[in-house]
Amino acid sequence: METEVKMTKLASCAGCGAKVGAGTLVQLLEGFKTHTDPRLIVGYDKSDDASVYKITDDLALVQTTDFFPPIVDDPYMYGQIAATNALSDVYAMGGEPKLALNIMCVTDAMDSHTVQEVLRGGYDKAYEAGAIITGGHTINGAEPIYGLAGSGFVHPDKVLTNSGAKPGDVLILTKPLGVGILTTTAKAGLLEEEGVIEKIYKQMATLNKAGRDVMVKYHVNSCTDVTGFALLGHSFEMAQGSDVTIHLQVADIPYHKEAYQYAEMGLIPAGAYRNRNYAEKGVKVVGDISVAMQDILYDPQTSGGLLIAVAKEDAEACFKELKEAIPEAAIIGHVTEFMGASICLE
Ligand code: CO
Ligand code: CO
Ligand code: CO
Repeated sequence: METEVKMTKLASCAGCGAKVGAGTLVQLLEGFKTHTDPRLIVGYDKSDDASVYKITDDLALVQTTDFFPPIVDDPYMYGQIAATNALSDVYAMGGEPKLALNIMCVTDAMDSHTVQEVLRGGYDKAYEAGAIITGGHTINGAEPIYGLAGSGFVHPDKVLTNSGAKPGDVLILTKPLGVGILTTTAKAGLLEEEGVIEKIYKQMATLNKAGRDVMVKYHVNSCTDVTGFALLGHSFEMAQGSDVTIHLQVADIPYHKEAYQYAEMGLIPAGAYRNRNYAEKGVKVVGDISVAMQDILYDPQTSGGLLIAVAKEDAEACFKELKEAIPEAAIIGHVTEFMGASICLE
């Protein structure tokens, strides 16, 4: 049955573009008092992808949550994308998802079939990830929301934080950029190329499982997933947290070519400006990089790829195996000691 409701029309802001800006978050949490626990490996203070709690010497719990308004009209695809994005934070810590709970807001305009399709999409994707959805919580509200609170496991000594990058590391990105620009363009009804939006939906519904499963076999020092804060926002967090400079070879960064012209036309999601405001102070533009290309680097990604900092001696083998599993994966830069700016665009 084809759904009558246009899911994206019920939402004011699509996907991870709805995320509160990193700069705003920092302000909101300023002075917020938290507690520590000897077993807490990653907590509030770290701005990391997920929290990690040590249970035994060889088992730690990974917990995360992510949800957002519809980024696509097809409710089944929406459910899949939201679940993929939510579980991505477990993978970004080097973990494996095991359990998840639905977080949902339904509106009066959504019929029961539409709601069921969202839930089915989430369930199927979580199951593909190796996790089972065991329940959740649903409320009524003005805008549809869907996502998961997910839990997984990781070995306590194998936790991949976003603050462990070391000089010499090679940086790998596993999904092309431009998702925010292209979904914004599609929402405005201006996307002309055939098949592009389907390609983007498929990419957003692709789990970061393959990337995680490969990287854990190698000496990886740091990992995060590139989502709402864009490549530059998440790179900035990694660089600051690790006290290093991240050098990005812009010509090597994979992105959807169709996004470039729409960036030039100014079809930029609002989140891209928030990301620029947040990260620009840490970015030094060394090369001759167009404004449109910079907009792509600040473009919020929904369910983006992993940004992996792998030790130099393992980089070649790790990348080779990643490339076999994920053809779009690319080496995009490297890490040095702090050189005055957190990120150098070269
Ligand atoms: Co994340
Ligand atoms: Co997240
Ligand atoms: Co991580």
